[in-house]
Amino acid sequence: MTAVEPSGQILGATIKGMDLATPLSDTDFATILLSLGRHGVIRFPDQHLEAVQLRDFSRRFGVIQATLTGRHHEPGMPEVGYLSNIIENGEPIGITDAGQDWHTDMSYNETIGFLNVLYAVKVPRRDGRVLGDTMFVNTQAAYDDLAPELKTRLDGMTATHDFNKFWENMRLRPGSLRAPLSAEQRRRRPPSVHPVFLTHPITGKRVLYCNPGYAIRINELDEAESDRVLETLFAHQLQPKYQFTHHWTEHDVLVWDHLGTLHNAIPDYHADEHRLMKRCQVMADRIFDPAFLRAALSSSSAVASAR
Ligand code: SIN
Repeated sequence: MTAVEPSGQILGATIKGMDLATPLSDTDFATILLSLGRHGVIRFPDQHLEAVQLRDFSRRFGVIQATLTGRHHEPGMPEVGYLSNIIENGEPIGITDAGQDWHTDMSYNETIGFLNVLYAVKVPRRDGRVLGDTMFVNTQAAYDDLAPELKTRLDGMTATHDFNKFWENMRLRPGSLRAPLSAEQRRRRPPSVHPVFLTHPITGKRVLYCNPGYAIRINELDEAESDRVLETLFAHQLQPKYQFTHHWTEHDVLVWDHLGTLHNAIPDYHADEHRLMKRCQVMADRIFDPAFLRAALSSSSAVASAR
């Protein structure tokens, strides 16, 4: 029996009673979509997945973006990336510093990101305390509370998002293993432009879609004014009242909605405190299609159980 248990906080719910290793029923799929719209971040505890099962679960929601570096993934399966500080044969097995600042995955793509799906294989602990939390911000709530004149002014404006902004932010940190992006890598991740406010396809609510990790410019404003407005938007949405923290347990699958959240992976663990997440990055290639969503949500029992 499936149960959706809201965290009672600004984001977050736990779904119990689903085995993600087996194909999802239409009802379970609809329950997950509705829960993502409502709660943004969904935990599925006590899952036991092979990489292929993680991939198959994830791609029910959309196309999975493969890793840019062509490394740091499940052997033979570039859709299942590794985020990890574990070193084997002198080489990190995963991306060591993925997501370690506020951002929204794939806002830099023409087809933006819909979901992240992370499967916790190893979670660091010190003196019994869990480390390596992931923090989130609720961008629907952040939009709701924006000053009315700012909502009116920015309505219809667009922002440019650039993959290289976050890459350079990480690369310039002490100890970074990142090299500058090659010309070929930049060609494969060109900047892209999106509305500052999006309508969330599941909830129909507006969200503030402008994250500090990748947004570099509000295109309809001159540069100085764009910088000023971006700073205002970033500071507004990062207020603690919009934040939620997930503390990991091994065998959690955590699925979050990039349209309704920002996130930030906290690197508070040392090299010998191992963390390993397997990740699928799902694109929003289907979720904005009304026919897809109508068909996916047609199960009325799912609507009831997600409430
Ligand atoms: C990410 O930004 O996708 C990584 C999140 C995490 O490792 O907690």
